[in-house]
Amino acid sequence: MNKLKASFVTANTITEEQFLLNRMKEKEIGRRVENHIHNEMKLDFDALSVNESFARTAVAAFISPLNPTLEELSDVKTAISEAVTNAVIHAYDEEYYLKHHKPDPENDEKMKVYIHCELDKDTLHVEIWDKGKGIANIDLAMEPLYTEKPEQDRSGMGFAFMEAFMDDLEVISEPGFGTTVLMKKNLRNNRG
Ligand SMILES: Nc1ncnc2c1ncn2[C@@H]1O[C@H](COP(=O)(O)OP(=O)(O)OP(=O)(O)O)[C@@H](O)[C@H]1O
Ligand SMILES: [Mg+2]
Repeated sequence: MNKLKASFVTANTITEEQFLLNRMKEKEIGRRVENHIHNEMKLDFDALSVNESFARTAVAAFISPLNPTLEELSDVKTAISEAVTNAVIHAYDEEYYLKHHKPDPENDEKMKVYIHCELDKDTLHVEIWDKGKGIANIDLAMEPLYTEKPEQDRSGMGFAFMEAFMDDLEVISEPGFGTTVLMKKNLRNNRG
């Protein structure tokens, strides 16, 4: 080992081998990010309407390294908004609250919305779930124009929008346990 290398090793307290290994790891991570091979994020937040814009902006920021078109961005944001709004408005509604709320501040902790996003090459996989009241009849709930809250001016178009703006939509629900919405969007549909 020459003098320069020897002093470098002492000053940084890592060996030349470790230094090179770290460089390789950094390069590998950089390559994976540049090629968008795989990326993942998770969020959980209180089921409050104010968090709907937070959620759609966070997911939009997550997919932005893929340079989505404005249309793709708007499609994804709309779908996220609809799913999160449903969790806030339907999953944890007055019926749920009256049934489950006890004078225990920790109980409110359970009223959360969860998001898990994964980018697999050019495809976004989103999972949005709640632990709310659940859906008894999924087929009926997914019918365009069906709403259980017409008195609140809901139009029953949330699931129809998710279906139209994303490439895949699946809803899994268990009354009393909550609902999971799975969506997929290919972000390179219009490009080569
Ligand atoms: N997370 C959920 N938990 C419980 N019920 C849900 C949930 N999401 C949807 N639903 C049920 O499915 C129905 C249809 O949902 P959809 O989003 O299509 O319409 P909406 O929310 O009623 O109206 P809009 O979305 O147009 O304001 C709801 O009225 C509700 O009964
Ligand atoms: Mg809705």
